[in-house]
Amino acid sequence: TAYKVGYFVGSLSSTSVNRELARALIALAPDDLEFVEIPIGDLPLYSPDYDTHYPPEANELKEAIHRAQAVLFVTPEYNRSIPGALKNAIDWASRPWGQNAFDHIPAAVIGASIGQIGTALAQQSLRAVLTFCNARQMTSPEAYIQYTPEIFPGDGVVTDEATKTFLATFMAEFRDHIVRVLTVLPRRAD
Ligand code: FNR
Repeated sequence: TAYKVGYFVGSLSSTSVNRELARALIALAPDDLEFVEIPIGDLPLYSPDYDTHYPPEANELKEAIHRAQAVLFVTPEYNRSIPGALKNAIDWASRPWGQNAFDHIPAAVIGASIGQIGTALAQQSLRAVLTFCNARQMTSPEAYIQYTPEIFPGDGVVTDEATKTFLATFMAEFRDHIVRVLTVLPRRAD
């Protein structure tokens, strides 16, 4: 069996280093994980006024999460928290009340920044949000990635062996986490 992982890139930048990190993670992941990006860039700003009539982009977001067996968040840190676009997507997915798409979903959080703390505060903030959304997060290992163009030259390539091993281990651990969660909380496979 293959497990379908829906991944979110928290950046809308056309030159996002987090998108590059996502490419590297996919390249290094175990063979039984399949990846589908869940886009967040075309969502309007969430308002409860939409709860009775979700727009197509928001329905598609929720359906994409339901089709996935796990979610992976690859996000930058904005002002010591998560980017507004990502928070907006999570807010859409968590509503209307009682129809939270993240309920019990296996999840992992990772991110890259140019700065040394490697999105640690954004990840802490995201973890708090996902906890409330009742996602089943992998809590260890944690991964705070300091991006440099030497280590991530493009196309998912990772030049530094220690970084490569670390990212491969992170994804192998995520795979094991998904299997453990699905053992007690199965999701529909399709
Ligand atoms: C940043 N950046 C940043 N970096 C960081 O380590 N901590 C932070 O709090 C912030 N805050 C912040 C706010 C805003 C509005 C921007 C645009 C940027 C820098 C950030 O890490 C850098 O721009 C990364 O390249 C962003 O990731 P993507 O978009 O390239 O994936």
